[in-house]
Amino acid sequence: MSTLKFSRFALGWCLGFVCLAPLHSQTQQRLGLGQNLSTETLKGWDIDIDAYGNGLPAGQGNATQGAVIYAEKCQACHGEKGVGGPANKLAGGAGSLNSTTPLKSIGSFWPYATTLFDYIRRAMPLTAPQSLNADQVYSLSAYLLYLNGIVNTTYTVDAQSLPAIKMPNLQGFKPIVDSLPE
Ligand code: HEC
Repeated sequence: MSTLKFSRFALGWCLGFVCLAPLHSQTQQRLGLGQNLSTETLKGWDIDIDAYGNGLPAGQGNATQGAVIYAEKCQACHGEKGVGGPANKLAGGAGSLNSTTPLKSIGSFWPYATTLFDYIRRAMPLTAPQSLNADQVYSLSAYLLYLNGIVNTTYTVDAQSLPAIKMPNLQGFKPIVDSLPE
């Protein structure tokens, strides 16, 4: 590799990783470009919920409330009761993972109930992601858990109860770290 080629390669990496931040602030000062991210703007991106439920907002809902929202906003793609629509099946498949026709659904596959809140709030409905409020997302989480036989229709799902739910396939994964909730 010639020296020239090598230094261009090194510059590329440098731009991609290490040098980007200092370059940015220098450019900002020199040319007056860009602006600092405000805490308020950052809040819109900082919406992840971890397996323990850290980050879950205030609010609550149950499956009865969720069923109404589901019929209006989800059923067209996911089908009545979570099956039979053009998009992913959201229920069923219990005990099927070892079979020749495994169905990876929320009930048969997902290890943590808290992922429901994160996923639905972040990505669904597909045509209007992040349009649902916390109560709606809790209610929909409760309804999908109900469809999978994990909670009953009146179980209140909120920031305390959602992380406490033990998903059927929790032990179906080999942890690569020791610190995940059991
Ligand atoms: C316009 C169609 C559409 C609508 C409406 C819709 N979804 Fe989805 N949904 C999808 C598609 C497509 C995927 C698969 C996305 C992927 O794999 O990247 C998906 C995936 C999901 C998953 C993950 C399934 C899995 O096991 O991987 C959940 C949970 C879910 N949707 C919930 C909902 C809820 C709740 C609503 C209503 C608020 C909703 N969806 C509305 C199309 C839709």
